[in-house]
Amino acid sequence: EAEPVDAGEAKPEAARKAKIGVYFATWWALNVVFNIYNKKVLNAFPYPWLTSTLSLACGSLMMLISWATRCLKLFFPSQVAVAHTIGHVAATVSMSKVAVSFTHIIKSGEPAFSVLVSRFILGESFPAGVYLSLLPIIGGCALAAVTELNFNMIGFMGAMISNLAFVFRNIFSKKGMKGKSVSGMNYYACLSMLSLLILTPFAIAVEGPQMWAAGWQNALSQIGPNFVWWVAAQSVFYHLYNQVSYMSLDEISPLTFSIGNTMKRISVIVSSIIIFRTPVQPVNALGAAIAVLGTFLYSQAKQ
Ligand code: 3PG
Repeated sequence: EAEPVDAGEAKPEAARKAKIGVYFATWWALNVVFNIYNKKVLNAFPYPWLTSTLSLACGSLMMLISWATRCLKLFFPSQVAVAHTIGHVAATVSMSKVAVSFTHIIKSGEPAFSVLVSRFILGESFPAGVYLSLLPIIGGCALAAVTELNFNMIGFMGAMISNLAFVFRNIFSKKGMKGKSVSGMNYYACLSMLSLLILTPFAIAVEGPQMWAAGWQNALSQIGPNFVWWVAAQSVFYHLYNQVSYMSLDEISPLTFSIGNTMKRISVIVSSIIIFRTPVQPVNALGAAIAVLGTFLYSQAKQ
């Protein structure tokens, strides 16, 4: 597949590839740290609507501070922000109900959603190999889901909704970045702020200050003052990994983005299973492996 080369930027291809490689490695590393702290916080403080809001608030604040010193264009990608908000809160609700590894196994099916949305909503068609590669993706996710020891319907549906929402987010973000000539970093910053405005009233309605205050006291008494640092880490790393992922999306197609994201999930799945000592049955691991292999086949068939 031919990647679009930025107009006016005649960098040698090798330098561009090296830059994307650095972005991917940084994105994956930051995402692993986010997932660990996010789950540590959710285990002690099960309020995913608040933690989702805090991640966006933290990113918005970081970018407002950086904008105060440089004058950059602010704009509002509204449909994209709705998709980002839904995808984010759905994934966080999912992770509050099930193991991080399970959420990410289901989220490794994202390329399948990309094909279905492109086919049925955007009217694009694909070679037969692409449709065939959906069989291991969907079959592997299904096998992993039915053999998951701590299966929970909200956890499963949250990850599925997140897949659908993020496919729309990525396709429309890429279009938006092209048309508006803003950088990936600024695009994501505007997206974060608008998502924060959308999510805050819903977070208050679903959970609300009373629940948060009681839960916060409880978490502090269980974990101690370190709990505050865990919340800060999940919020800061959420912003940083997404910012780097958008810097990558600026350079690559939404398809390459989805594939890179599925590869990222292997490191999240493995590290979270080790850190949280998640019990895994061999057949469950097999399902996850088949789904990830399906994504490889999908990327080959799509080229
Ligand atoms: C979120 O909270 O937005 C999700 O954890 C992110 O999912 P991703 O791994 O697709 O970025």
